[in-house]
Amino acid sequence: MLILGIETSCDETAAAVVEDGRRVLSSVVASQIEEHKIYGGVVPEIASRRHSEAITAVVSGALDEAGAAISDVSAVAVTYAPGLIGALLVGVNFAKGLALSADLPLVPVHHLRGHIAANYLSHGELEPPFLCLVVSGGHSHIVDVGDYCTLDVVARTRDDAAGEAFDKAARAMGIPYPGGVELDKIAEGGDPGAYKLPRPRVEGSPLDFSFSGLKTAALNLLNSARQRGEEINVPNLCASYRRAVVEYLVDHFGTAVRESGAGRIAAAGGVSANRLLRRELEALSRETGAALYLPELRYCGDNAAMIAAQGYYEFINGHTAGMGLNAYPQMDI
Ligand code: KG4
Ligand code: ZN
Repeated sequence: MLILGIETSCDETAAAVVEDGRRVLSSVVASQIEEHKIYGGVVPEIASRRHSEAITAVVSGALDEAGAAISDVSAVAVTYAPGLIGALLVGVNFAKGLALSADLPLVPVHHLRGHIAANYLSHGELEPPFLCLVVSGGHSHIVDVGDYCTLDVVARTRDDAAGEAFDKAARAMGIPYPGGVELDKIAEGGDPGAYKLPRPRVEGSPLDFSFSGLKTAALNLLNSARQRGEEINVPNLCASYRRAVVEYLVDHFGTAVRESGAGRIAAAGGVSANRLLRRELEALSRETGAALYLPELRYCGDNAAMIAAQGYYEFINGHTAGMGLNAYPQMDI
């Protein structure tokens, strides 16, 4: 069964054709990052306009690359939440028009469920249940994936997301948006013990995250060094900061894994591309005996193959929508 996936929740216009939720026949991603870079972040109005311009070519490109006609497709799956509302609406309305004209079912997909499903593309044998660390530019969750369409948030961030924490610290160090990627590269050549950073704490739920204190500590360090006219060693700060964020994530995730006795663990979202995070999760897997699944790098960031993969499972579980489908900037998983 072929599913056409469409993704426009942030700054990537993407479409893909995936067979039976697992085999990627095509995955086209048109990134707007270069255009947003000069503003230091995604400008929502620009994102919506660029999606509108790109979407027709991206969707027909995905069908062409898969060697498929729209009549070969069984359903159109589209990200409808969460994300930038204007950006989401471009994908949702395009998907509605396509589904209506080709007389196909329309399947709404939650963006984070899609990120988690990226693991199904890379690991044919992976099936729920598993525990997943979901770390993107907008979210940091520990998710209990009980079944393909039964997901529970075990822990969440109280403020910034992990990706946002990386991007904001990177920006303060003069690294262009989205700085998380570059910070990770620079950190490889730095000393992670060079700068002391606090270990954040959250009152109440011990597994929840908070990144604002860590980010502020890095900014204070930079500002006081500037005031004193001291040089900051950027690779060392990148390495120290990366270690603080990653150890914090893996510490909480490790506790959740041990408490739940999960036999399978996974990661998802843009930050799951982080080199140190991947290494630390491998160590956690060895230590707990839980089998680890990580998405291939090309499916860590936003793409539509992951939306088509989750769309397949939503569709076979009867989760379709009518032409009244709306988009939502926020929604529980
Ligand atoms: O999942 P994603 O592509 O978009 C959202 O749904 O938000 O995640 C983007 C985030 C950005 O904050 C970016 O800096 C971060 O993922 N990111 C990384 C790495 N690659 C992407 N953060 C740390 N290390 C990386 N290697
Ligand atoms: Zn994403």
